Amino acid sequence: MSETPRAGLRDATRLLHTGTPTLKGGAGPVNIPVVRTSTVRFENTAAYADLHHRRVAGERVASYGRHGLDTHQALEEAVTDLERGHRAFLAPSGLSAITLVLLSLLSPGDHALVSDSVYSPVRRVDQTLLQRLGIRLEYFSPQANDLAERITPHTKLVYLESPSSLLYELLDLPRLAAIARARGVPVAVDNTWSGGWFHKPLTLGANLSIQAATKYIAGHSDVMQGIVVVDSPELARRLATTHEALGLTVGADDAYLALRGLRTLGVRLAQHQRHATEVAQWLQGQRQVARVFYPALPDDPGHALWRRDFSGASGLVSFAFAQASEAQANAFVDALRYFGIGASWGGYESLVLRAAPERLQEHSLWQASGLAGHPVVRLHIGLEDPADLIADLAQAFARVA
Ligand SMILES: Cc1ncc(COP(=O)(O)O)c(C=O)c1O
Repeated sequence: MSETPRAGLRDATRLLHTGTPTLKGGAGPVNIPVVRTSTVRFENTAAYADLHHRRVAGERVASYGRHGLDTHQALEEAVTDLERGHRAFLAPSGLSAITLVLLSLLSPGDHALVSDSVYSPVRRVDQTLLQRLGIRLEYFSPQANDLAERITPHTKLVYLESPSSLLYELLDLPRLAAIARARGVPVAVDNTWSGGWFHKPLTLGANLSIQAATKYIAGHSDVMQGIVVVDSPELARRLATTHEALGLTVGADDAYLALRGLRTLGVRLAQHQRHATEVAQWLQGQRQVARVFYPALPDDPGHALWRRDFSGASGLVSFAFAQASEAQANAFVDALRYFGIGASWGGYESLVLRAAPERLQEHSLWQASGLAGHPVVRLHIGLEDPADLIADLAQAFARVA
C-alpha cells in the first residue's frame, strides 16, 4: 500500500489517497486488486514463524486467508484514516461488528451502559447472548444527565449511538465521553448515520467507532459489512483476540465493494443531505405531519449539538403523523411509488419503513415527546430528483387524507 503523506490534507483528498496500491515496475492500477485467498504461502519456515509471531504480537499482518490480505488491508487503512483511529477490524455485518465490540470488552459479571435509543437489535444481542454470559446491559436516557451516577466499579463500557436510530436523537458525545473516560470506562459509538464523513467520534472522546458499512460506506445496497475502528494499540489487542476467536472474516470481493463505495462517500452524502433537507422542509409544511425528525432542521431539539459536532446530515428523515390510524399510515406507505419498502438505508435509492411502536417505546425521547400513538414513518432519501420524491409523498398523503 502506498504511503502518501496525509497530514494537513482534507477528507476528500485523504479518502482517495489512502489504501491505494504502490506502483510496481513503474506502473500499476488505480484500484487495489481483489486478492481472494484462503491460503497464504510462505517462502520458508522462518518467514512463516516471523509473520505468525508479528501477528500474535498485535501487528496487522496476514498468515492465513481469514485475516484478509491486500484488499482488506486497503479498506481498513482507508476507514482508519477516515475515522482518525489507530486500527480497523472488518466484520461480516454491522451487527457482528457491534457484537465484536461487546464481546471484546465485556466479561461475566461486567456491566455496560447503553443509550436507550440505540439500534434495537443491540437489545437482542443482550437478551439472547450477553445475559447468558452473565453480562448486564443497562439502558439509560442520554438526556437524564445521570451517567456519572450510573457508572459502577463493574462498568466496563459505555455504548452510544448518535444520532440514534429512528428519531435521530443527538447525544452530547464530548460530555458523555469525558464522564466515562474520567472513570476509566471506554466509550463505543455507532457512527453509521454519518458514514464517518460528517462525524468523527474518536476526535470527540470516544474510543471505538462502529459502522455498518452495509449502509453509506458501501453505498449501493449490494454488500453486508461492519467495521470497528479503535483509537489505541491496547484496544486493538483486545479486539484482535476476540475477532480471531470468533473467526470473523469478510470476502475479498465484499471488501473491494466497500472500498469502491468509500471513494465516493463524500459526494453521495452531500447529495443525500441536499435532498433530505428539501424533503424534511417540505414535510414540515404538511398539515398531516405532527413532527419531522431531522437534526439539520433548526427547530430539531438536537440541532445545536448537530451543528457543533457534525459537518452535515445524512439521508434519513422520520416523521410522525398528526392524525392517522395504523391502517392509514400503512396505506400511506403502500401508496408510495418511488420509495421501496425496506428495512435498510444508505444506498443510492429511496426507502420507506414504518417505525414499529414497540421499538419507539424503548426510547425515552419518544416517551417524553407527547406523540405516543402517532404513527411514525422513516424515509431514506436517495439520489433521485427530490421534486419527484416530494410529488410521490404528496400523492400518498392525498390518498390517505
Ligand atoms: C445504526 C445501525 N447500526 C447497525 C446496523 C446493523 O448493520 P447490518 O445490517 O449490516 O448488520 C444497522 C442496520 O440497519 C443500523 O441502522
